[in-house]
Amino acid sequence: MFNTREGQFEAGDIRTEYRTFEVNSLTPHIGAEVEGVDLAQPLSNEQAQDIHDAWMDWKVLVFRDQQIDRDQHKAFGRRFGRLHVHPMQHKYGGDPEILTVKTTAESAYTSGDGWHTDVTCDEVPPLGSMLYVTETPEKGGGDTLFADMYLAYRLLSPSIREFLDDLTAVHDGAGPYVGAYKSTPPPGGYPKNEHPVVIRHPVTREKILYVNPGFTSHIVGLGRAESRAVLDMLYQHVATTPRLWCRVDWKPNTLTFWDNRCTQHHAVWDYFPNSRYGERVSIVGDQRPAA
Ligand code: SIN
Repeated sequence: MFNTREGQFEAGDIRTEYRTFEVNSLTPHIGAEVEGVDLAQPLSNEQAQDIHDAWMDWKVLVFRDQQIDRDQHKAFGRRFGRLHVHPMQHKYGGDPEILTVKTTAESAYTSGDGWHTDVTCDEVPPLGSMLYVTETPEKGGGDTLFADMYLAYRLLSPSIREFLDDLTAVHDGAGPYVGAYKSTPPPGGYPKNEHPVVIRHPVTREKILYVNPGFTSHIVGLGRAESRAVLDMLYQHVATTPRLWCRVDWKPNTLTFWDNRCTQHHAVWDYFPNSRYGERVSIVGDQRPAA
């Protein structure tokens, strides 16, 4: 079955010019490449405000040809809040505020090779992440897909939206970290928290579909089979609706900054046995996800 004009609605008219730079959009509603910002230099307040505004507008910002070290990467992150320490950091070692994303021929998995929103098991999940990729696979591949979860919500029928609006769901870190990555939990276990199935973005105030196959274990108050069926329907919606997505094709020294509240992402591991390397800084959210 193919889509027709009947199912279309306007892509929107998001601005591309800001006071201190311009952006080139990847799609009409999600993803933009930022021109003319050097992240190795301290940002002026005006630049930081413009980046924040463009990030709210486009959800995923791509900065090409950046030559930054870890301190500069972290300094960029700190312009938007306190830096996050990943729950699996006890396993990674190294700098607690840097998450390395390293995939080689020996890797048992690559981080994030499935639709997810980062660390929604936390009581206050990261509000955003900045991944700086310095090594891309020799023969191509290794792109990351991002889905617009505002649009995912808006594309649902009014009846389903109404049904979901008052529900909450449990997000459990043990799912990916133990189930998929086979890591030993820290003392006290991985975080597990309940969040609304539909949240409002604290800045834009728009509604967002906020369940993801990475972390969401079940919907509270539904039977096990009912919860599974509803979650599977929502996951299928994201996984089979390409108009929700943009695709970042990494080149060495690209930094991508995504809004972790209104997007999901999926790192594509299509380059085995070649290698890919990046480092991620995430920013602690300023409030619990709320309806
Ligand atoms: C992640 O943050 O989930 C990894 C994304 C990627 O490697 O592209």
